[in-house]
Amino acid sequence: MQVVTTHVPVLLHESLHGLRVKPEGVYIDCTFGRGGHSHVLLEELSDQGKLYVLDQDPSAIECAQQKLGDDKRVKIIHQTFANLAQVGRDNDLLTKVDGIFFDLGVSSPQLDESQRGFSFSHDGPLDMRMNTSAGITAAEWLASVSVKEFINVLREFGEERLAKKIASRVLEQQQICAITTTQQLAEIVKTCYPTNYQGIHPATRTFQAIRIAINEELQALQQGLEAAFDLLNGGGRLAVISFHSLEDRIVKRFIRDTKQEDLLPKLPVMPELNDHLKSVGKLIRPSEQELKVNPRCRSARLRIAEKVLK
Ligand SMILES: C[S@@+](CC[C@H](N)C(=O)[O-])C[C@H]1O[C@@H](n2cnc3c(N)ncnc32)[C@H](O)[C@@H]1O
Repeated sequence: MQVVTTHVPVLLHESLHGLRVKPEGVYIDCTFGRGGHSHVLLEELSDQGKLYVLDQDPSAIECAQQKLGDDKRVKIIHQTFANLAQVGRDNDLLTKVDGIFFDLGVSSPQLDESQRGFSFSHDGPLDMRMNTSAGITAAEWLASVSVKEFINVLREFGEERLAKKIASRVLEQQQICAITTTQQLAEIVKTCYPTNYQGIHPATRTFQAIRIAINEELQALQQGLEAAFDLLNGGGRLAVISFHSLEDRIVKRFIRDTKQEDLLPKLPVMPELNDHLKSVGKLIRPSEQELKVNPRCRSARLRIAEKVLK
């Protein structure tokens, strides 16, 4: 099968610079996508270096096989990063990894292929699964969700102010005729907004919320970060690109909370710190120049942290 290969990598040089790649190091790209970051990382690795690439989307894995299947330095793993701890155990990586990278969210091929059902701009089946070989589709989710849960999802994962109205109206319509396409859903959500509404597309937050819910994105991120911390060696680096405040908050808190110091009352003599993460530099956002070339990166934020041993 020919897989779509176009995805413009975001904050490419900033993230690779943040990882401080060593030619003989061991690295994990937890979100291969179309391999933009992996490609540049591999340019910096010698024959002794090693790169593990993960993605939960079978089409990303197929692309990885096509691009990197013959590269002896690369191991390709079809897996969610929620199971990164298991990947670490299977490959004997505990405290042996020099750098771990997450580029969260969806890739351009996922958004642009209408069959994937991620986008309200293209009509397609209401799917939204990142792993098309497991889990339930957005249409199946809508057919079984309660109004209360739908409202919670819209509020929590979409920060949608019209959550109540949207959830009630969508589920009313669902009773009359099953909602199975992206356009059906987008049109119903649009009717919940005032006719003079100006701003981002009315369905943006609803689509984001349902996508996060059915792919369990925030739990996966928390689990992935915890495992990444255990796999990093002293001086190993973590680089995470997030695309909305819910993700960024989890990353920021995770880095902060590895430092017990921040959680303790200030004492005259501070206890010895456990292994922890230290932020490297400030939050990085795309430059004006990158925004011009790739407007899709406008909400991207990159955080870099380094593991410090006690
Ligand atoms: C923004 S894209 C990555 C793009 C990539 N850095 C590049 O330059 O081509 C995000 C990718 O992460 C994958 N992904 C999202 N959540 C995941 C998870 N929990 N486990 C593994 N892969 C995941 C998606 O399937 C998608 O391919």
